[in-house]
Amino acid sequence: MTTLLLLVPVNWSPLWAVPLSEFDSTLKLPVHGRDEYAPEDIEYVLSFRPPPGLLATLPNLKGVFSLGAGVDGFMSDPDYPKRVPLLRFGSKALTNEVAQYVVFHTLLHHRQQREFDEYQKKHEWRQRMPNRRTAETRIGILGLGEIGQLAAERLRDLGFAVAGWSQTRKNIPSVESFTHDELKVFLARTDILICLLPLTPETKSILNAELFVSLPLGAYVINAARGAHLVEADLIAALNARHLSGASLDVFEQEPLPPDNPLWSQPGVTVTPHVAGLTDPREAARSVLDGIAKLERGEKLENAVDFAKGY
Ligand code: NDP
Ligand code: OXD
Repeated sequence: MTTLLLLVPVNWSPLWAVPLSEFDSTLKLPVHGRDEYAPEDIEYVLSFRPPPGLLATLPNLKGVFSLGAGVDGFMSDPDYPKRVPLLRFGSKALTNEVAQYVVFHTLLHHRQQREFDEYQKKHEWRQRMPNRRTAETRIGILGLGEIGQLAAERLRDLGFAVAGWSQTRKNIPSVESFTHDELKVFLARTDILICLLPLTPETKSILNAELFVSLPLGAYVINAARGAHLVEADLIAALNARHLSGASLDVFEQEPLPPDNPLWSQPGVTVTPHVAGLTDPREAARSVLDGIAKLERGEKLENAVDFAKGY
C-alpha cells in the first residue's frame, strides 16, 4: 500500500483526495495538519508550497508532486532533499488555458476594448482603428517553455510579429528567438511584453524600472507567471509617467491581492485573481498516479525538475 501525504490547506484536501481515491482505492492519503502520520511512512507528497524544512523530515520520501507548473514554492525551501525527484504538473489543457489567457489579454489591449467599454457607458459611437496594424505589433514573450511556445505560435498565427527570450535558442517557425544576453535588443523591439518565466533567483524582480525603460514608449505588459517577477512600485511609476500604456496582471507578490493594494484601481491595469490556468484535480490525480507507477518501475520522468536550473 502506497502512502501519499497531502501537504495542502486542509479545507482544500478533498479536492485532491476524492479523485485520487476514486482512481486508486488502495492509496493511503493522510492530510498534513489534520491526520496523525509517521514521517517514515510517507513515500510521496503532493503540494504546491510546502512549509520550508518539512520535506527534509520524511526519511523514506521517493517523489514529490507539484500541484502547479511552477515549482518556486519548493525551490524556495533551502532544505529540499535533492535526492528526491520533484515532478512539476503540466498538461496540454493547463498549457492551453494559460496561452489562451495571454492571447485574450493581448487582443483586449490591441483592439482597445477597454476604451470601447468606456464609450459604451456614455452611449458614444466612436470608430477607431487599432493604434498599430497587427503585423506591425511586436509581441515579446519572456520564457519560451511549454506555455511560452504555445502562446508564441497562437499569436504568430493571429498575424502578430512574435519573438521570445529564453536561456537556449529556439527554432519555432516565424518566431524570432533571443537568448539570455540579448535581452536589451529583445525589449527594444517589443510593444507587448508577456512574462511566462519560472520564478528563479535570476528572474525574480525582472519586471523592474530598468526593464520598463528599455521597452518602447506605450508598451503594454502582461504577467501570467509569478507575482515576484514584478516590482509593483516600478510598474505603477512607469504607468504614471505614461511610459507604459497598461498591464494585465494575473499574479501578485501577495495573494490574495490585499484590498488596499493600489494596483486594483491603477488606471490601465487589469487584475485577475491567479486564474490564467487552474490545475484540474482529476488531471492532477491521473498525473500523480502515473508518476508514482513510473517511479516505482525506476523510469525517468520527463517532468522532473532540474535542480541546477531551478525549473
Ligand atoms: P517551462 O519550464 O516549460 O519554461 C520556462 C522558460 O523560461 C524556458 O523557455 C526557459 O528557457 C526560460 N527561462 C528560465 N529561466 C530563464 C532565464 N534566467 N533567462 C531566460 N530564459 C529563462 O515553464 P512553463 O512554460 O510550463 O511555465 C512558465 C511559468 O508559468 C511557470 O513557472 C509558472 O510560474 C507560470 N504559470 C502560471 C500559471 C497561472 O495560472 N498564472 C499557470 C501555469 C504556470 P529554456 O527553454 O532555454 O530552458
Ligand atoms: C501553476 C499555477 O504554476 O497555477 O501551475 O500558477
